[in-house]
Amino acid sequence: MIQVTIQVPATTANLGPGYDCLGLALGLHNDVTLALADEAGVEIEGEGAFCLPRDGTHLVLGAAQAAADAAGERLPPLLLRQVNRIPLARGLGSSSAAIVGGVMAANELLMLGLTTREMLDVATAIEGHPDNVAPALLGGLTVCCTLESGSVLVEPLEVAHGLSCVVAIPDHEVATRDARRALPQTVPHKDAVFNLCRTGLIVAALTTGNLANLGEAMRDRLHQPYRAHLVPGMEEAIAAALEAGAHSAALSGSGPTVAAFVSDAGEEVGAAMVNAFRREGVKAVAQHLPLSPHGARVIA
Ligand code: HSE
Repeated sequence: MIQVTIQVPATTANLGPGYDCLGLALGLHNDVTLALADEAGVEIEGEGAFCLPRDGTHLVLGAAQAAADAAGERLPPLLLRQVNRIPLARGLGSSSAAIVGGVMAANELLMLGLTTREMLDVATAIEGHPDNVAPALLGGLTVCCTLESGSVLVEPLEVAHGLSCVVAIPDHEVATRDARRALPQTVPHKDAVFNLCRTGLIVAALTTGNLANLGEAMRDRLHQPYRAHLVPGMEEAIAAALEAGAHSAALSGSGPTVAAFVSDAGEEVGAAMVNAFRREGVKAVAQHLPLSPHGARVIA
């Protein structure tokens, strides 16, 4: 069978102040396989196996179609096999992983010839914002800027050694659509400046490894306060992570996961966040994940 398998990392976006701009790839992966087939089909293992669509409405196939359209090619019948490890709708980039997996798998399998930059634009057009798709595609820390044309400028950066991420994943979903609707149309100028300073600071801290400012650098006033009601226990989990020894913590993407940066004490930080959520009546599990310098790549 002619097929290709892409491994795509989970991602954590925003990193506190960098709303729709910053993202980071994590060492947790989905495998997306597309195969040429006489009859189209979808097989899913792992996260979402019981609820994701089994037809052409599947996000991976939609993304494959968009990649083919961008290259002016016709999409043949495809068999999709997905092994999902990234939990759905938790703020860890599951939809971006599906989109990037579909775009890259189609590009490889059908030899569409899209460049990385073109794949990023196709994926961002589907997702609506670039901060998860960029690290899913490129790995590491990515700084994105969406142009008025919709095209994306991106700077992939290497994170200093020694940092990892502890995530506390609540057992309920938050739809990004709803979390974006919760945001105001305008924000106070002083809050915009508050985030602007910290966005610069967090990029500096993560890339230089000078972690003294990381705690302050991950604070946000543009989205987290407006989303707190969707994520009961968020503020308590962030405070508990800091108390337990994390450098910093913030809502991961649009939540409900909270992500904390650690150099050590990962287990304690995870337990502290899970307990903080539990005290607010929310069940959560913790995972200690390495950062991923690699983005999506062909593994078979
Ligand atoms: N920047 C996006 C948001 C990320 O916060 O809505 C969604 O995962």
